[in-house]
Amino acid sequence: MKTLNGKPSTDLHGTLVVPGDKSISHRGIMLGAISEGTTHLSHFLTSADCLSTLAAFQQLGVHIERDGQDVTIHGVGLHGLKPSAQPLDMGNSGTTTRLISGLLAGQSFTSTLIGDASLSKRPMKRVSVPLSEMGANIETTDGHLPMTITGSPLHSVTYQLQVASAQVKSALILAALQADKPSTLVEQLPTRDHTERMLTQFGGDIATAADGVTITVQPQPHLTGQTMTVPGDMSSAAFFMVAASLVPNSKITLKDVGLNKTRTGLLNILQRMGGKVSIDAAPTDGEPIGDLTIETADLHPINIGAADIPAVIDELPLVALLAAKADGISRITGAEELRVKETDRIAAIVQEFTKLGINIEELPDGFVIDGRMPWHVTDNQLDAHDDHRIGMVLGVAGLLVDKPVQLAGADSVRISYPEFFDDLNTLLPKE
Ligand code: S3P
Repeated sequence: MKTLNGKPSTDLHGTLVVPGDKSISHRGIMLGAISEGTTHLSHFLTSADCLSTLAAFQQLGVHIERDGQDVTIHGVGLHGLKPSAQPLDMGNSGTTTRLISGLLAGQSFTSTLIGDASLSKRPMKRVSVPLSEMGANIETTDGHLPMTITGSPLHSVTYQLQVASAQVKSALILAALQADKPSTLVEQLPTRDHTERMLTQFGGDIATAADGVTITVQPQPHLTGQTMTVPGDMSSAAFFMVAASLVPNSKITLKDVGLNKTRTGLLNILQRMGGKVSIDAAPTDGEPIGDLTIETADLHPINIGAADIPAVIDELPLVALLAAKADGISRITGAEELRVKETDRIAAIVQEFTKLGINIEELPDGFVIDGRMPWHVTDNQLDAHDDHRIGMVLGVAGLLVDKPVQLAGADSVRISYPEFFDDLNTLLPKE
């Protein structure tokens, strides 16, 4: 149980380098493993989720060394993975599970995937159904983990994705690498494109058409190990962007944050709401990065719908928090995917924000929030719902309340940002 604040904070100041990007860290291990030669990753995210990916590939016979945030992967090539005697434990990580499924579907051995209680409730048919269309042999447990994948020769597909999900898209890309002919994937809406960018960097042949949603993947590449620095995770930076915007008299700088356009939804929304953000972009060959300086601002309400969601999918709890301090009524819709994240994030946000006296109404696919009323804590026992992003958003909300509140499950932050509360503390005024 963690005690949060007790009096409204002021004056967040300082500079932070946020941990490496979670999506890119996962993909770095996976693409490094199936490449020939050595991959070096620096600023790798050493959180529980990315360590689940690292451990799974070690179990599949890949030699991986880690020294803090520096990781060296000795690639075995697309056909060099070995079966694991034990089930592969995905922990809490949906990204590990979905992406590895696409890779294992085309291998010459059988694998079993297991996960923790939260992951075992999350839908897996979204990957098993399209992979089966490619010839994969996958048995889920009623659409969930445990899941057994018996590797089979895969054939190419033309597939229209049923959900806007980069995890599903990436699973199909990793399967398409092992297919007999080129595959075409058509997204509903553009989602994060790290797999496409990184696959190109590692020597694969993948192209996105001018419509932004039609992706063609060429099979059987010889990928080559790469050296890369993982950018700071925009999804982690976002917690401090919101904290500095809402806590009076604040000004902070976040260094080397990933600014890939498929990830900057929160930045755009904050600016549309009247947030004060300045961006100092750095020139790079790979993923765009830059320094962000954020100052306290008076915020206006916002309406966002389905087309806005993919670029802000992991930051929607923070959009809700911004809305809870804006001078009007905000509507967030088209976000039903939040119901199948680490917890049902719509229900969790509504339940926890209501305890803080925030005026929030639940919709099937989002929420309506009136930020005009002052908050009043009605229940000081908050719960992270075993979900890292709910834990962190409540950590930021805790800076804005007028009584001490307790947070159960604060250690859930280990999933994507183990040092979150320590880093937040460095921004607070020294007593
Ligand atoms: C991720 C994609 C997103 C996101 C998750 C990471 C990825 O999930 O929520 O945290 O790395 O591909 P969906 O694509 O399923 O929405």
